Amino acid sequence: MKATAKAPANIAFIKYWGKADDELRIPLNSSISMNLSEAYTVTTVEFQSDFKKDAVTLLGGSFSEKETARVIQGLERIRQRVGISMYARVVTKNTFPKGVGSAASASGFAALTVAGFSAAGVKLTEKELTIFARMGSGSACRSIPDGFVVWEKGKTSEDSYAHSLYSSTYWDIRDILVIVDAHMKKVPTTEGMEGIMTSPYWQDRIAGIPAKIIAMKLALAEKNFEKFGNSIEEDTLNMHHIMQTQTPPLMYWNDRTKEIMKRVYGWRKDGLPVYFSIDAGPNVHLFCEGKDINALVQKVRDIDGVQSIIINKPSIGAHCIPNHLF
Ligand code: DP6
Repeated sequence: MKATAKAPANIAFIKYWGKADDELRIPLNSSISMNLSEAYTVTTVEFQSDFKKDAVTLLGGSFSEKETARVIQGLERIRQRVGISMYARVVTKNTFPKGVGSAASASGFAALTVAGFSAAGVKLTEKELTIFARMGSGSACRSIPDGFVVWEKGKTSEDSYAHSLYSSTYWDIRDILVIVDAHMKKVPTTEGMEGIMTSPYWQDRIAGIPAKIIAMKLALAEKNFEKFGNSIEEDTLNMHHIMQTQTPPLMYWNDRTKEIMKRVYGWRKDGLPVYFSIDAGPNVHLFCEGKDINALVQKVRDIDGVQSIIINKPSIGAHCIPNHLF
């Protein structure tokens, strides 16, 4: 009983920061994202009756005890839903450094969910898969459906799920993930967002989200890149304002991050339509339209301190692949 799944990381245009239910990972607000073609996780799950315990391996890296326990909890949810008691062997690999943002937990739990249910021989609906992925890591639910995705916050576990707004071929947007620091971030997202309500501005952020979701849906429907980019930057800055005014404050940016943000404003002034987004870490996502990708890559490569870049297109969601990798 073995299956392998590939799941993309995703970048949120309107971001998730804060939970209404910590246990079930029901968010305070809905969010919208795009799956990333070149930043992904491949995971194999194998259930066997003669395995004596669960074993979890990250190729090219290692999981902490806490991370391993979180994966095992994910397996436990699958076992309960399916009604089996076999232990599992999980082998996983990312195309990008773990801990550079939320990316690895999103693609990781999406891949674990799809591979896990497939290995157990049970076919769930896409909606149900997004709900199980969400319980592993909130943003993981957005890595299951194709392309451009909305996560409806919902009120209960059953109605907090993700679905596709547009397929991956709908709009030729590019995302350059600019890595300026590949080390594990200091405060993980789960812990960081627990402090949202210590910011005096959190209620304003949450109250403003429904209008932002409508504006983002409109920008996508119109393929209006300027509206799209401005909404992304506005929400990034708003989320970081909340982070920075929490107690204790969360300062995820470093000097390189700020330098890139400044450059983006300059490039835009010079006529290159490019916008930034930043998650819970110092690395920066840059958005442009397909026609501008070469010009933008050239400029990014010229910046001191850029360790690597990953150039993404919109991607399909998590899916099973042949078991040839591990
Ligand atoms: C800043 O999904 O990593 O990237 O549900 O606690 O696992 P948990 O959090 P996670 O948070 C992602 C936060 C973010 C914004 C976003 O991706 O929407």
